[in-house]
Amino acid sequence: PRVLLVTSEALPLAKTGGLGDAVSGLARSLREAHVDATILMPAYASALHTASGLQEVARLPGLVGGDATVLAGWITEFEVPVLLLRNDALYLRPGNPYMDPEGREFEDNGVRFAALAQAAARISMGDTPIRVPHVVHAHDWHAGLTPLFLHAAGYKRPKTVLTIHNLAFQGNFPMSLADLLDVPDVYKGVDGAEFWGQFNFLKAGIRYADSVTTVSETYAREILTPRFGHGLEGLLQTRAADLRAIPNGIDTEIWDPAVDPFLNEHFSPMDLRGKIRNKLELQDSFGLPTDPEAPLLVMGSRLTHQKMADLAVHAFPRVLDAHPRLQVAVLGCGDKGFEEALAALARRYPNRFGIHIGYDERRAHLLHAGADMLLHGSRFEPFGLTPIYSMLYGTVPIASRLGGLADTIVDAEAGGTGILFDGDTADDMVAAIERALGLFAQPQQWQAMQKNGMTTNFGWEPSAAKYIELYRALAPVAPVGAP
Ligand code: ADP
Ligand code: GLC
Repeated sequence: PRVLLVTSEALPLAKTGGLGDAVSGLARSLREAHVDATILMPAYASALHTASGLQEVARLPGLVGGDATVLAGWITEFEVPVLLLRNDALYLRPGNPYMDPEGREFEDNGVRFAALAQAAARISMGDTPIRVPHVVHAHDWHAGLTPLFLHAAGYKRPKTVLTIHNLAFQGNFPMSLADLLDVPDVYKGVDGAEFWGQFNFLKAGIRYADSVTTVSETYAREILTPRFGHGLEGLLQTRAADLRAIPNGIDTEIWDPAVDPFLNEHFSPMDLRGKIRNKLELQDSFGLPTDPEAPLLVMGSRLTHQKMADLAVHAFPRVLDAHPRLQVAVLGCGDKGFEEALAALARRYPNRFGIHIGYDERRAHLLHAGADMLLHGSRFEPFGLTPIYSMLYGTVPIASRLGGLADTIVDAEAGGTGILFDGDTADDMVAAIERALGLFAQPQQWQAMQKNGMTTNFGWEPSAAKYIELYRALAPVAPVGAP
């Protein structure tokens, strides 16, 4: 089948979190399996910069937010074709895909991502010279209106899939936006895309997609409950028959410690000496004394409530006080309050606590390669790529027992790959770190865990096969007369 992946992020054109990794990894893997997959995303400055061979292939006059064009090119690193939706007034701005450099959400995000969905729907209905897909695969709220627009477009339309990478972000906008988009009234009620008086993009996607998927088995069950459903559990229950879990994979061409181009020193499960050299480099680059024996605990993620950054702020001083040799390094950005609280720890524990606030791909690779253990607490976690990167790099994760983490990490007790903990208090987190430090003191057991993690297969192939099965089930024959 021919598949159009509609997304706001795709590595390396744009990325703020795991969505960018997941979409590009999936697209590469689909193409390796001979599925004609193409990515459609906004033409941010970074995307215009990074994509190769861009050429205008279509005009889309009259989209919300103004006339747009479509550029076709390639994501060379992944060997994936990309379509960039160009409207410079909407997408060519400093900042990341959603926020300005000061961290304020763009006020017109509703219009910016409604235009993306409009473009996806018009391309998919054959309004442009671009070949129409058999399946349109929308990712997260940014692409959530795509299934609604296609549903409204009538019966001769491609099938739609919506993948939920994070139910916490839904894209709620004033109902007046739906009016501006000429959305028919039936789609505007509580049985449509309305959510507490607002127009909810993700709800639209869940409600109108032919099939809904999410990125781990456990999360697929969790989101049917009020604790994890973010108010959409009722709708998800009504769609349970069309809801399935397809776990993410890891792009093992990018995350392989034996060849990783971001690393100066390489290593493998058979020979971990290079990992020690990465540890020394990591310590040095975070201003910590180089000491191969000191336990090195790291955290690398968005610094948000989801990632328990609030608890980490309290847990770190407690374990640092209790273990005089312990070192901590943090790489991340997010809520300013957490950034400041963690930066204060670096001042309170000079030579023991290093921090780098910011988004830095190279440093993230070194962090996973050089650490002994990675702290990854989550209040909810659809999948959780970071702890898997750490496992592949011989760094033992300490993570919350929920969502994708519960599916991908095997607890040490079961002869596993990491430490799983329950609860969401600083005590729970401290106890989990203490457990890890106890195991670290037993080198044989520790090395067994490292090797278990490094040799687990987290590749994309099985997951891509599940998506292909789904696409085929939805679109068994090519539509008659499709170009
Ligand atoms: P989420 O998508 O919820 O943020 P994941 O763990 O699934 O969580 O994916 C996060 C991705 O973003 C990983 O690829 C991780 O390495 C990357 N990442 C997060 N914060 C940073 C940062 N400050 N610098 C570099 N990469 C980061
Ligand atoms: C989201 C989730 C994360 C997941 C990623 C890719 O950002 O928070 O758990 O790994 O999407 O699916």
